[in-house]
Amino acid sequence: MLTCFHVLKLWEQRFHKQGIDSPRLSAQLLLAHTLAISKMDLLLNLGLELGALDLEAFEGLAKRRLQGEPVAYLVGSREFYGLEFMVGPEVLIPRPETELIIDYLRKHYAPDFSGTILDIGTGSGALAVTCAHYFSQAMILATDLSWPALLMAQKNAVQHGVNAQILFTQGDLAQHVYCHQADIILANLPYVPERDKVNLSHEVVNYEPWEALFAGADGLDAYRYLALTLQAKVLPGTLLLCEIGSDQGLAMEHLFAPIAQQIHILKDYSGHHRVVVVVF
Ligand SMILES: C[S@@+](CC[C@H](N)C(=O)[O-])C[C@H]1O[C@@H](n2cnc3c(N)ncnc32)[C@H](O)[C@@H]1O
Repeated sequence: MLTCFHVLKLWEQRFHKQGIDSPRLSAQLLLAHTLAISKMDLLLNLGLELGALDLEAFEGLAKRRLQGEPVAYLVGSREFYGLEFMVGPEVLIPRPETELIIDYLRKHYAPDFSGTILDIGTGSGALAVTCAHYFSQAMILATDLSWPALLMAQKNAVQHGVNAQILFTQGDLAQHVYCHQADIILANLPYVPERDKVNLSHEVVNYEPWEALFAGADGLDAYRYLALTLQAKVLPGTLLLCEIGSDQGLAMEHLFAPIAQQIHILKDYSGHHRVVVVVF
């Protein structure tokens, strides 16, 4: 019989040979998921012998990983800001750099903030649900073009017990009626330039939803559209936080300068431009 140690070693090598991202972590997360234990418990029990059914289930997932399918989709979840989010191919897998937006809000607003936060392009609901969790008095509006994404976001809100605090609506941001009601608007809209498709990992391009990733030749189509929409609707004093690509800071400043009182750019932990903060 094979132990967890042997199985992990074998599949780490296979993933590595195939050029799969994070080969060791991938093997550990898939095996922990198969055994319904935490990664920590797995690492503390490497001598455990695997039964035939568990081995078969693990190998089924591992073979899909070998084709490049992201671990988050295989196990059906990803952690964001300490909370577990259900994910599937209909939503973007929440990224650690997006946590910067929550860090900013927690730094500048007290936990009893009772205003309205609008999350445009909510996807899995990572930002909306995390805001509801940390600002329990706030009213959250969450919107997305994609119905399947909204359903997933709603499931996540239920899972975290914040469904009553969030109003989900399907819609294009241009038709959005809530902009003038929000104190804070969050927008992690698609920002990858179409031409970068060839440079992206095949895990991303082949598995994540394109409508969550790409936005025209320079990646700014969605934000251009947002600026146009907000110009007509947003009230003075409203705060907007947008996640961007590391080389888009200057272009975003130009885009929002005609309608903003203040603009500044936050850097991520790697020192790259990542979030634009606009005060209207
Ligand atoms: C980059 S994903 C962000 C998901 C989530 N907010 C996060 O941070 O993980 C962008 C999301 O915006 C949605 N989206 C794209 N264009 C949109 C539009 N014009 N109006 C509303 N949502 C849009 C996509 O469906 C996708 O769910």
